[in-house]
Amino acid sequence: MERKQILDNHGRPINYVRLAVTDRCNLRCFYCMPAEGIKYLPRKELLSYEEMERLLRVLAGLGINKVRITGGEPFLRKDLIGFLENITQIEGIDKVNITTNGVLTAPFIPRLKAMGISSINLSMDTLDRERFAKITRRDELPKVLQCLEALIDSEIPTKINAVIMEGKNTDDIIPLVEYTRNHPVSVRFIEEMPFNGTGEGHSGISWNHRKILETIKNQFPDIEKIPDPPNSTAYNYQIPGFKGEVGIIAAFSRTFCGTCNRIRLTAQGMLKTCLYDDGVMDIRGLIRGGASDEELENAFLQAFGNRAKNGYEAEERRSDQKPSESMSTIGG
Ligand code: 5AD
Ligand code: SF4
Repeated sequence: MERKQILDNHGRPINYVRLAVTDRCNLRCFYCMPAEGIKYLPRKELLSYEEMERLLRVLAGLGINKVRITGGEPFLRKDLIGFLENITQIEGIDKVNITTNGVLTAPFIPRLKAMGISSINLSMDTLDRERFAKITRRDELPKVLQCLEALIDSEIPTKINAVIMEGKNTDDIIPLVEYTRNHPVSVRFIEEMPFNGTGEGHSGISWNHRKILETIKNQFPDIEKIPDPPNSTAYNYQIPGFKGEVGIIAAFSRTFCGTCNRIRLTAQGMLKTCLYDDGVMDIRGLIRGGASDEELENAFLQAFGNRAKNGYEAEERRSDQKPSESMSTIGG
């Protein structure tokens, strides 16, 4: 198939979609949701698997070749695995990745391996059971660790995502780096973003990417910069002799917008062309209003032609000016 490559209005190729399959979650990470959870969408408001598959086909026709499945927690959606088996077959989609909290994931690993899932990101902010229970408000670290070990055994490329927060898990930075000594995983430290679902998004962070790197360098002075893959949101490093790698993601400082190649579809079918925008097009409305594939294509092209140049401009364009939604609704 001849591949199109769509450029946005700032000349950036768009080839990556992050698709949230549910807004529900079985954890309550405090930086993502309030303790009582968020108001979940009624089932019929979610895109159906058929609708999502159709959108992925249309997007593949526009040159999107990489998909990440997110949520909420994707494995809470019924028969996710069947959906994954279908979309890994779509012509033009070369990579399907998943972000999961790992609580329900382990039993599916053999099928994920068999269908050729490209990589799994496991959200795990700490290796300490008590701190995990405080951060996620659920005592599920043992299951997440089991999942991590099973992923490593399966040889599916695995990354650990750890959001670094003052007073919560800064003591985990060194143990998580240490984990890469004998384990072939990439541990990525993420700046905390204001998407906690409370309406009181933070306005600043005390642990930015520089401070995280300084902390690591103090303990591991021989840490080396390694090349960042194209469009990587992480600055990547390795400690000589260690099996794994370390990444730092400036998710709040937003240093990577210049090469942003991604769009997002929320579980209710809202198109976001930046994590920090508040939804630029109601794709579900178009589909359910009877749009043809060509009309859907044109709608996507129109949105790609009007992207904010970075996360700061996207934030300014919001109707409410201040992010307050949960990461679980946005889809990571
Ligand atoms: N700030 C930074 N990262 C977040 N995540 C969820 N909420 C936030 C937030 N407020 C992370 C999750 C997951 C990834 C998709 O986003 O831990 O790993
Ligand atoms: Fe669930 Fe992920 Fe949000 Fe934690 S960060 S509550 S695991 S969706």
